[in-house]
Amino acid sequence: MFRLRFVLLTFCCPYSHEQHLGMPHLPAHAHYCLLSCYSGDVLLPNVACYAAPCLPTYLCGERHKMLPLNDTEREYVVRRHNEIRNSMLATDMLVMSYNKELEFLASCWANMCIERPRPSHARDLCRATNTYSNNGQNLWADASTNSSVDWSDIKHIGAAIDSWYAEKDNVAEDVIRSYKYHESEMYEYYTQMVWAETHSVGCGRTQFSAYKYTGVSIVCDYGPAGNIIGEPVYTSGVKPCTRYPKMIQNKNYSRLCGEEIPLENDTFYPPFTLQAIKHQCDVLVFLFLRFLLEFLLN
Ligand SMILES: *[C@@H]1O[C@H](CO)[C@@H](O)[C@H](O)[C@H]1NC(C)=O
Ligand SMILES: *[C@@H]1O[C@H](CO)[C@@H](O)[C@H](O)[C@H]1NC(C)=O
Ligand SMILES: *[C@@H]1O[C@H](CO)[C@@H](O)[C@H](O)[C@H]1NC(C)=O
Ligand SMILES: *[C@@H]1O[C@H](CO)[C@@H](O)[C@H](O)[C@H]1NC(C)=O
Repeated sequence: MFRLRFVLLTFCCPYSHEQHLGMPHLPAHAHYCLLSCYSGDVLLPNVACYAAPCLPTYLCGERHKMLPLNDTEREYVVRRHNEIRNSMLATDMLVMSYNKELEFLASCWANMCIERPRPSHARDLCRATNTYSNNGQNLWADASTNSSVDWSDIKHIGAAIDSWYAEKDNVAEDVIRSYKYHESEMYEYYTQMVWAETHSVGCGRTQFSAYKYTGVSIVCDYGPAGNIIGEPVYTSGVKPCTRYPKMIQNKNYSRLCGEEIPLENDTFYPPFTLQAIKHQCDVLVFLFLRFLLEFLLN
């Protein structure tokens, strides 16, 4: 036992070795390989396992660029979602918060560039986290031959959210009461946005190129997942937060329930960054010292 922990410690403390960045054998990567999903009896691997280290693939083309959201854009995403959710007449609509682990998984999928040059609406196989075994996913992509389009502009995030919201017109009232999949009507992005029990969102953004085209892929992951067949999208009613006795109304959005977790309280580190490696290392050093102490005290 002593030897094993010591080996682990020396193996994963590359504090100052930049070349360790993104090495797929790190424990964090293994962590996501253990977070798989089941579809019936089939085990589906987590996107952060099979796409590790989650960098842009060759499909992204020569002019690819990772465009992670900055805090202004993260707050914009969560505000737009909450404004839309606040406009529903629902008795159980939770407030949404931004979640950086979902952002990491969404970026991991955006960096695969499956969406180029035309949106394919293909989702990843599995995006489970420790907190939620099942998360939702909305996709949007656009491309142009006009080389002066700035794909990092926040207006494209706005366009993605607008396009998902526009599916509202396709939803019938009975789908809101009991969700069902409809082959000819697209509304699953909208229903995920306003799924009452979903309370976190995180988005990834990657620029890609193909032939004369340059474009952007925007992926948002939602926890816990909505669009569960047979369950309500939300419960209609004029009195907000009355479906469950413990729900409290949000101070910023009077029709939403619960408190928003501020962005700065989300301390998730993507597992392939030096900061995360250092964090894991700190945990291991702690475990090692505790073990040593126990060993000496006995
Ligand atoms: C190309 O994009 C730029 C920036 O968005 C725009 O100002 C310009 O009008 C576009 N050109 C064409 C030909 O559409
Ligand atoms: C963050 O993104 C916004 C919107 O795209 C942009 O206006 C702003 O300059 C960015 N902030 C930083 C610090 O890069
Ligand atoms: C209200 O919004 C502010 C600013 O975005 C935020 O800091 C605060 O946590 C929010 N309050 C609640 C109860 O969600
Ligand atoms: C979130 O962070 C603020 C300060 O940034 C702190 O006052 C608050 O207690 C934190 N909340 C939680 C739940 O950690």
